[in-house]
Amino acid sequence: MAIQWFPGHMNKAKKAIAERLKSVDMVVEMLDARMPASSENPLLAQLARGKPKLKILNKQDLADPERTAVWLEYFNSREETRSIALDASERQAAQKLIAASRALVPHRSGIDKPLRVLICGIPNVGKSTLINAMLGKKSAKTGNEPGITKAEQRLLLADDFWLYDTPGMLWPKIIVEEGGYNLAAGGAIGRNALDEEEVALELLDYLRRHYLPLLQARYGADKDPSSHWQDDQWLEWVAKKRGALMGGGRPNYQKAAELVLTDFRDGQIGRITLETPQQWETWLKKARQREAELKAQREARKAERKGQAAPKPQQSPQDMED
Ligand code: G4P
Repeated sequence: MAIQWFPGHMNKAKKAIAERLKSVDMVVEMLDARMPASSENPLLAQLARGKPKLKILNKQDLADPERTAVWLEYFNSREETRSIALDASERQAAQKLIAASRALVPHRSGIDKPLRVLICGIPNVGKSTLINAMLGKKSAKTGNEPGITKAEQRLLLADDFWLYDTPGMLWPKIIVEEGGYNLAAGGAIGRNALDEEEVALELLDYLRRHYLPLLQARYGADKDPSSHWQDDQWLEWVAKKRGALMGGGRPNYQKAAELVLTDFRDGQIGRITLETPQQWETWLKKARQREAELKAQREARKAERKGQAAPKPQQSPQDMED
């Protein structure tokens, strides 16, 4: 895959989160409703094992409502987990988050037993937007907490509701290839780290298979011929239709790819979700199988190298006689 993933200051974030987890009652994890599983953080799942979790499917206004309902059910069936869908800028966001959190940890309330919550999310998922919307005009108390990380803030959403905000954190590894492409399409991965043409082709491939009518409507394509097009034919069509052309009228694929990605991110193609729980399970299974195969191959090569490097067994006097 052409996506380069840079762990960057992930270790710092990991330490800060692990430290803060010791003194919170639950975790709010913000996910992108257009790709809920891809935007889940495996490292957080590991660190926060045993803590109640609220999964917020954010950007629900851009996601396919039917699929959002399926994802909510999927997360709600997990132990000690609640899930709600939000549009981070909506006015009721704070009330919804507080109500869902209180339902999850009812025994923490009152000024002497405040509900302490850690909010996490991958970059670009909408955490700042949500926090700003929650703070509103109210002058909430915020402040740096020494010893954890300079960027950590404690927000007082109610007298007995403390929200700890951590800096965004990255993945240790994207093991599901499709998930990497989905994150890239959604804008969670910096532009410099990906090949936009490849990401747009993957996106078009998914859309032509699952959201064909939306694609046809957005790009004014005839229903019959375009229903047989492959991803590259779609990209060529978009280039021609939008005038993304180079000298001699040749399609400018890079420009067309940028157009498609921007359209998707802005919700111009329609309300779309790039994965279902079932698809995710299939991708995950495939990825784990591939990992296991690679590991086995690596180990076999290592064993072979060791075998070659090992000194030849000495000939016994009897061998010499033969
Ligand atoms: P982060 O702190 O998690 O990194 O994300 P941030 O809030 O900065 O949001 C990233 C982008 O996602 C912003 O758009 C923001 O407006 C948009 N966004 C956040 N929540 C929602 C939501 O629920 N629905 C929709 N449709 N968009 C959302 P941007 O284009 O990067 O910035 P701006 O043009 O809004 O300033």
